[in-house]
Amino acid sequence: MSSRSKKRAYVETYGCQMNISDGELMEGILEGRGYRIVDAPEDADVVLVNTCAIRDHAEKRVLGRVAQLNGLRRERPGMVLGVTGCMAQRMGEALLEQAPYVDLVMGPDGYRGLPEALARLDADVPIVERPRGKKRGPQLAVLQLDMDENYQGLEQRRTEGPTAWVPIQRGCDHRCTYCIVPYVRGGEKNRSAVEILDEVRALAEGGVSEVTLLGQTVNSYVWEAVSFPQLLRRVAQVDGIRRVRYTSPHPNDVTPELVAVMAEEPAVCEHLHLPAQAGNDRTLKRMLRRYTVESLLQKIDMVRAAMPDIALSTDIIVAFPGETDEEFRDTLDLMRGVRFDDAFTYKYSPRDGTPATRLPEGDFIDPDVAQTRLEELINVSRAIQAEINESEVGRVEEVLIEGAGRDEGQVRGRTGRNKVVVFDGSAERIGEYTEVVLERTTGATFSGAEVDAKVAVSM
Ligand code: 5AD
Ligand code: SF4
Repeated sequence: MSSRSKKRAYVETYGCQMNISDGELMEGILEGRGYRIVDAPEDADVVLVNTCAIRDHAEKRVLGRVAQLNGLRRERPGMVLGVTGCMAQRMGEALLEQAPYVDLVMGPDGYRGLPEALARLDADVPIVERPRGKKRGPQLAVLQLDMDENYQGLEQRRTEGPTAWVPIQRGCDHRCTYCIVPYVRGGEKNRSAVEILDEVRALAEGGVSEVTLLGQTVNSYVWEAVSFPQLLRRVAQVDGIRRVRYTSPHPNDVTPELVAVMAEEPAVCEHLHLPAQAGNDRTLKRMLRRYTVESLLQKIDMVRAAMPDIALSTDIIVAFPGETDEEFRDTLDLMRGVRFDDAFTYKYSPRDGTPATRLPEGDFIDPDVAQTRLEELINVSRAIQAEINESEVGRVEEVLIEGAGRDEGQVRGRTGRNKVVVFDGSAERIGEYTEVVLERTTGATFSGAEVDAKVAVSM
């Protein structure tokens, strides 16, 4: 046997939290089957690029990265290069044609079979024949979507730290007309509440104090008789769990029951990420979001009535095909009306196979116009964010120390309201909660000082 009997695997993840969580799942599956997980592709026998397909830009970047990793593969005979995740599912075998050096293409429902797929590659048993003229080895594509696959019973490998992602749902039953997710991740599949709670308990016993429940429309979760609000309450009551977050909810499933649980359970953070996507009814309708601006505002009123101090964030897409300038202005009005603490803003990106791509050609917005709209939206949202954050300077907030700060001797943490704060402290204290006075803001993040540390200094 060689000096290293264990195969080494490296997983590089792009995209959303769900994908990060899937990356941890793949690592867990591989580790459970004898692989050693390493931190650099140079050290690995198996290199997996876990991809995102939500926007064209994300895909282009990843394709560039895969081509770059092929350089490594050429230097290291025997290295397996795999592409997993949403782009792998979307492009499928076309990816093997376009990037013939890729050995394995695997969609998000295939990870359970990852060790077998790798073994199959080792044994030279392809599913897809190499395109003509290819010199090296087999290629393999695992692209079956599986209505029953929710990865029940499998362990994730988590990076050390006080926070953890907990996927509770995969796939999506909506069909927002711009979105590729339902086509690459299939319909909604929920995990057993028993298993989720066991996992959260085990995480808490292992020192995790903050969990984020993940799902594409996380608040539509239901398992047997357990609804999302009920699950949220049970998770919030697990011993050792001090903070619970969830992302991303669909506005339609923000119910009075959910709001009550958020307000009543001290562990549920006072932060809600609520993707609005647009602030105009005609656009929302054509996006098939299934709510109106008015009903969205009513939801926000309901949330704020129960939790006046809650921080809100959102996702917005500008330049959806057919969006007029006036309709775009409605989105700006929504931003000014609601005053979100944070906004993730995107230009519409056509995704093959989604309904919006079939809108009349003349509807597609000129890229310069789209860029101008995006910049205007970013300016409005940043200005609001800066005003809100400036008004919060002077507050004392509980911060969970999550990591080292950029400067030596500093640490970085987050408040329950999801605001990032940097302050003096030692990285040994990662995982601790402490009271911090917010002293300054850059507009987006804060710097501050620990209340206890201040007392110590002034004594
Ligand atoms: N183009 C631009 N943005 C998109 N999103 C989803 N699909 C697209 C697309 N085709 C955005 C939505 C979603 C976020 C994760 O990505 O705002 O909430
Ligand atoms: Fe995409 Fe809409 Fe499902 Fe979100 S709810 S994943 S935007 S289809």
